Amino acid sequence: MRVLQLGVGSVGEVTARTMATEPEVTKVVLADIDEARLAQVAPKLPAGKVETMQLDVHDKDALVKTLAGVDLVVNGLIPEINPDLMAACLEANTNYLDMAAAGPRDIVGTADVDEELALDGAFKKKGLTALAFCGIDPGASDVFARALYDQFDTVERLTVLDGDNSSADGVDFAPSFSPTTMVEECLILPPHAFENGKIIRRQSLSKSGDFEFPAPVGKLKVWNVDHEESQLMPLFLADKGLRKADFFIALDDAWVNLLLTWRKLGFDHNKEIEFGGARFRPLDLLVSRLPKSVDLIGKMHGSVCVGTLAEGTIGGKRVRRFMYQITSHDDAFTKFGVQGTGFQTGVPAACAGLLLAKGIVTTKGVLAPEQLDPQPFLELMTKHGTPWGVVDLPADEELPM
Ligand SMILES: NC(=O)c1ccc[n+]([C@@H]2O[C@H](COP(=O)([O-])OP(=O)(O)OC[C@H]3O[C@@H](n4cnc5c(N)ncnc54)[C@H](O)[C@@H]3O)[C@@H](O)[C@H]2O)c1
Repeated sequence: MRVLQLGVGSVGEVTARTMATEPEVTKVVLADIDEARLAQVAPKLPAGKVETMQLDVHDKDALVKTLAGVDLVVNGLIPEINPDLMAACLEANTNYLDMAAAGPRDIVGTADVDEELALDGAFKKKGLTALAFCGIDPGASDVFARALYDQFDTVERLTVLDGDNSSADGVDFAPSFSPTTMVEECLILPPHAFENGKIIRRQSLSKSGDFEFPAPVGKLKVWNVDHEESQLMPLFLADKGLRKADFFIALDDAWVNLLLTWRKLGFDHNKEIEFGGARFRPLDLLVSRLPKSVDLIGKMHGSVCVGTLAEGTIGGKRVRRFMYQITSHDDAFTKFGVQGTGFQTGVPAACAGLLLAKGIVTTKGVLAPEQLDPQPFLELMTKHGTPWGVVDLPADEELPM
């Protein structure tokens, strides 16, 4: 299989390197607007398998040329581009994979995962597969949800929890993934949640509680934020009595206070404003003061846990089960020269692509991670350095969120 890795940032590097280790992947073309990044990443892939290409994905003619002869496009760019890229893949007869939904258009209230899922018929008609939302969360978190769902007789609650206990050398605010996406999903987008069988929108930063993540991450304060899983899990995993589905991420107090101040100043949107004769987005101003995820490589110390909690019954007994993956930022740097979130996201994305390369997924259309068979995906996750665990928690204690 010939793979085009579009965007070799923090995540794209890991996805490309992981896919290139498997024999079914014969060539990986790395394409990015940033030539220096291409030069950094290319030598880390097997020499005979890698090509590089400087590309601005907004240059439609160049993109169409690049897609020629490619079997799978792995999109490691900022998600706003997803619908345009999916359209280009349909035109060029290329399979497609991404790691997040194009959320920011969603402020007026349409569910953002819908935009990609709506292309299901178009991909089917062309005999192509699009693997959508396949990182760690969304991605592995949804596969965990599906694996747990398959173990339970009834499932009333599915909640994804993401906790990172790390600090970053010399950096006050260190979003470990795209800072634009981080501000949008924590502050700007009202979180989707599934409550009493219905999708609702909560106010951002309005719901929080402590959660004890497995060691070494430990207890962290988690906040309800907008995420794909809150829409995907009810869409695909509701048939065993689901009443509640949502997503929580650990945020430190200083970051929450900064975002709440930004809101008080009236900047909690992603539109342009005019000031001093110039037009700009306050979002871009804030992001310009934050480090990029690749700038944090080697500076982050601690571990990140992403997992899915299922509550329901097995054989008439109440069960609360948490399935999770933990990555150490320090280990990811020592072993692979990348930061933990890039590693933890990039490996599951590669595993999804490998399911296609190995002929394990043959279904056509746009597939959410809940629609994948969990077993081969989970085996590949372990094989490529992101093993997962499962723990049963006391089912009768009140969860603080
Ligand atoms: N599902 C998950 O768990 C998860 C977690 C983290 C990130 N993500 C998603 O993964 C994607 C990549 O995240 P990241 O942290 O690697 O981002 P990043 O900013 O590190 O990398 C993006 C890359 O795209 C390149 N790029 C930007 N504009 C371009 C253009 N016009 N043409 C070509 N290349 C361009 C940049 O040079 C950079 O190398 C994002 O969509 C993010 O939302 C998903």
